[in-house]
Amino acid sequence: MRTLFKTLTLAAAIGITATANALTVGFAQVGSESGWRTSFSESVKAEAEKRGITLKFSDAQQKQENQIKAVRSFIAQRVDAILIAPVVETGWQPVLMEAKRARIPVVILDRNVSVTDQSLYITRIAPDFELEGQRAANWLTEKTAGKCAILELQGTVGSSAAIGRMKGFNDTIAKFPETKIVRSQTAEFTRSKGKEVMETMLKAEGGGKNICAIWAHNDEMALGAIQAVREAGLQPGKDILIVSVDAVDDALKSIIAGDINVSVELSPHLGGPAFDVINEFRAGKKDFEKWIRMGGAVYTQENAAAELVKRGAK
Ligand code: AHR
Repeated sequence: MRTLFKTLTLAAAIGITATANALTVGFAQVGSESGWRTSFSESVKAEAEKRGITLKFSDAQQKQENQIKAVRSFIAQRVDAILIAPVVETGWQPVLMEAKRARIPVVILDRNVSVTDQSLYITRIAPDFELEGQRAANWLTEKTAGKCAILELQGTVGSSAAIGRMKGFNDTIAKFPETKIVRSQTAEFTRSKGKEVMETMLKAEGGGKNICAIWAHNDEMALGAIQAVREAGLQPGKDILIVSVDAVDDALKSIIAGDINVSVELSPHLGGPAFDVINEFRAGKKDFEKWIRMGGAVYTQENAAAELVKRGAK
């Protein structure tokens, strides 16, 4: 009898431990607008599976209202933690307050939120978008000796990725009076819009003969723009330099082919660090840095091939 009791007690203890460890985490993702975004979603899903975490994944299709709905639904389901990769910076305070009132910790990934109360989220794990813009501009101004007419494809209006990259790039080229952005428009971080907007810009610029470079806020738009440049009878990477951000595998291949000239890396591997933060928080840690910075390299013809091999890309 005593043995049976002991066994039941042990089983109950194991059962309790298993339940306590089986976390449920909600993830409000922007969408699937780019190859980078897809890799980021895959990273979070794979990491959750590896750790035995139940992930509730929501694709907001680039709409903030969908994200807010998803977060409210995660709160109603009483998840253990919420990850948000915000579409735009503003408009987050009310729903983050709801999560805080429900005592559900929130981690911000990738793009930023603009809130007055910093205690509404534990931390943000993200790159430095402004630095990415600076690095892109540094490469371009060096390559063109500070003389260049640029067409800019912006990311989603109001997203911190677009705001930061634009600021970093513009502040850097401001030191070069003969480097100018002659046209700038959003293409929402997508390949199809990148092509469409670039076609219009090239037409408006008399076919693009006097354009020296395209500065795209991400690889996806750069890849779309390349098609437009080719259709305009020009050679991407030679007649018009292509400068971009993300350094996804397709962009590295395009660098090797000579179409994209440079891409500033943004790591999509945010899943591991995000779940580490949640675990540390649950274990009692409270003093997190408000911004955990992710770094990245700059890829050109010199190092793109080696990086592809390192990644084991097909
Ligand atoms: O917020 C990061 C940006 O969003 C990436 O550069 C882009 O590819 C994505 O869609």
